Amino acid sequence: MGRTIWFLTTNQGKVEEARDHVSGYGYDIQQLVVPGVELVEPQTDDLVTVAKAKIEQAVPHLPNPDDLLLVEDAGLFVQALHGFPGVYSAHALKTIECQGMIRLLSHLQSEDPVQEKKLRAAEFQAVAALWDGTTVHIGHGRCPGSIATTAMEGEGFGFDPVFIPADLDEHRQPLSPGDIGAFSAHGKTFGAMKMSEKHLYSHRRRALDDLMTVLSGLPGGVE
Ligand code: IMP
Repeated sequence: MGRTIWFLTTNQGKVEEARDHVSGYGYDIQQLVVPGVELVEPQTDDLVTVAKAKIEQAVPHLPNPDDLLLVEDAGLFVQALHGFPGVYSAHALKTIECQGMIRLLSHLQSEDPVQEKKLRAAEFQAVAALWDGTTVHIGHGRCPGSIATTAMEGEGFGFDPVFIPADLDEHRQPLSPGDIGAFSAHGKTFGAMKMSEKHLYSHRRRALDDLMTVLSGLPGGVE
């Protein structure tokens, strides 16, 4: 078994997702829950700053100081709202919920579906931060797309019911909302997809892949 990475999250789904992505690199992912400790998020619009602040607070709770610590922070950035809710996505979900997001964009509609996707452009961004005992390594992931006009529920969580990912090109790289690519959600939201289909587009998966690429470039890094 490779080195243990403790993933600081209360979301078991995220642990499964991370395990799926990084076990091939020889790491063993375990969930780190710190009961009774309320992590403080700094007032900032930058996901990297939030992730680094969480690392700093969680390092003293690592079960073994030689193990690695993973933190992930994500948000939904809506173009017409100048990037809101961004780092405040969890709070926005709790307060206005998916229906509130649809209402905020209700004036942005068009007869032309391509134009409508551009007007309602948004993207999920994720940052995966890994503490290796001396340094914090950062991976970035993004998933461009658009906000649906009606919610489509299913397996997902958070803003999944209202987010339609943009098409991907033949190399599975995301295009701009409205552009036609080799892979398409055909208007389905993340919420209406199977988890396995969401992974094709997921900002979280992309952030973890980027992190693994960063680590493999380091001396003595993963293969
Ligand atoms: P977290 O930092 O990854 O916990 O994400 C913060 C908030 O962003 C969540 O509470 C959700 O509202 C939203 N969010 C992040 N990633 C996703 C996703 O993959 N689907 C839906 N909502 C997400």
